[in-house]
Amino acid sequence: MAFNLPSQHRALVLESIEAGFQFKSVPTPHPSEGSAIVRIEASGALSYFREIYNGMLGYSFPTPIVGGYCAIGRIVAHGSDATVLQLGQLVFVDCVIRARDDPSALYLSAIHDGGSEASKKLMREVWRDGTLAEFVKVPLENCIPLDEARLCQGLGYSVQDLMYLSYLLVPFGGLRDIKLEPGETVVVCPATGGFGSAGVMVAIAMGARVIALSRNETKLAKLKEHVRRGTPGANIETVTLTGDESADTAAVAAFGKIDAILDLSPHSAAKSTHLKSIVNTLRPNGRCSLMGMVDVAIPAWTVVSRNLSFRGKVMYERNDILQFINMLERGMFPRGENFVTTKAFSLENWKEGFATAAEYIGVGQMVVFTP
Ligand SMILES: NC(=O)c1ccc[n+]([C@@H]2O[C@H](COP(=O)([O-])OP(=O)(O)OC[C@H]3O[C@@H](n4cnc5c(N)ncnc54)[C@H](OP(=O)(O)O)[C@@H]3O)[C@@H](O)[C@H]2O)c1
Repeated sequence: MAFNLPSQHRALVLESIEAGFQFKSVPTPHPSEGSAIVRIEASGALSYFREIYNGMLGYSFPTPIVGGYCAIGRIVAHGSDATVLQLGQLVFVDCVIRARDDPSALYLSAIHDGGSEASKKLMREVWRDGTLAEFVKVPLENCIPLDEARLCQGLGYSVQDLMYLSYLLVPFGGLRDIKLEPGETVVVCPATGGFGSAGVMVAIAMGARVIALSRNETKLAKLKEHVRRGTPGANIETVTLTGDESADTAAVAAFGKIDAILDLSPHSAAKSTHLKSIVNTLRPNGRCSLMGMVDVAIPAWTVVSRNLSFRGKVMYERNDILQFINMLERGMFPRGENFVTTKAFSLENWKEGFATAAEYIGVGQMVVFTP
């Protein structure tokens, strides 16, 4: 089943890390069993796109490759085995690709090959190209239907707003993984980055009380204001980190029982003691979701003597996406600028878009490309 597709479409192609990106015409993919072709309406940008694609972060992926991350678009063709997806249907395109015969072999399309032989093979040979293009071919299961009437006409989200899902879903994956319950107190650290601030919004929507941490008091105040504007009466407290391990522990402990931690520490925080400080505040049997890709020091005595649990989490499960979209469709998140204010760029202006994405970071802020 297919709408009429052009033989060529435009895409941002990385021929090699040394050559960099070129915006050019490439053949439009054709659908096959198990796949869909999506016309992209908004493609999300990560703040570290430049560092991914210039090789600085050392992320491993094959070239040539069309860059990109998650996207929102419409199904314009699909294999005959599609049962729910309809032509014209608005979908969230998830960048987490899992091998069908071994879902533990997963990777991030056009970002990172996942490191295993199976995931590298799948990325190299089958699902390689990303969403910085007019059209993309993706596995059927990576197209998550969105109720456009409810989300856009009913709740007033624009297609670009919906791209913020790609940030919110990541901490949702971690918080669901450690089974955060309504009414519990969770420390989010650091809470002012792209994914950390998304984690604060998600934990509030899940009914938790949040203690948000950062070194920057001004950014924390902005975060608190954004959250309270979108969710009046939201249970959010902030702590400005000092770098003094005991003082930071005392500042968090002053808020009473701490049930859980969501950690999204970046590389630059490798020497920070904030995680050690917070772990020391966790109640017996407390839980911690480690989502930051950095080696962190953890106080072993506290972990053992309090029966603490630590779980690493890469991204989220497919069921998490479905659950999250249910919450969004039920109106459990703020709307309009209390949700997100996107800055949009055409693919031709990718350099400006990447540069803006590197700066336009934090709560309710996101860069999208509109091919
Ligand atoms: N597990 C997964 O699936 C997954 C998915 C996406 C991202 N991640 C990881 O999540 C982490 C955060 O990504 P992001 O894009 O949100 O980062 P980001 O937007 O660059 O945010 C960085 C945050 O770290 C804080 N920070 C920076 N340097 C610090 C230091 N020396 N000490 C303490 N805090 C410091 C900043 O806070 P202040 O400047 O306000 O203090 C800010 O809140 C990265 O490690 C990324 O790889 C994991």
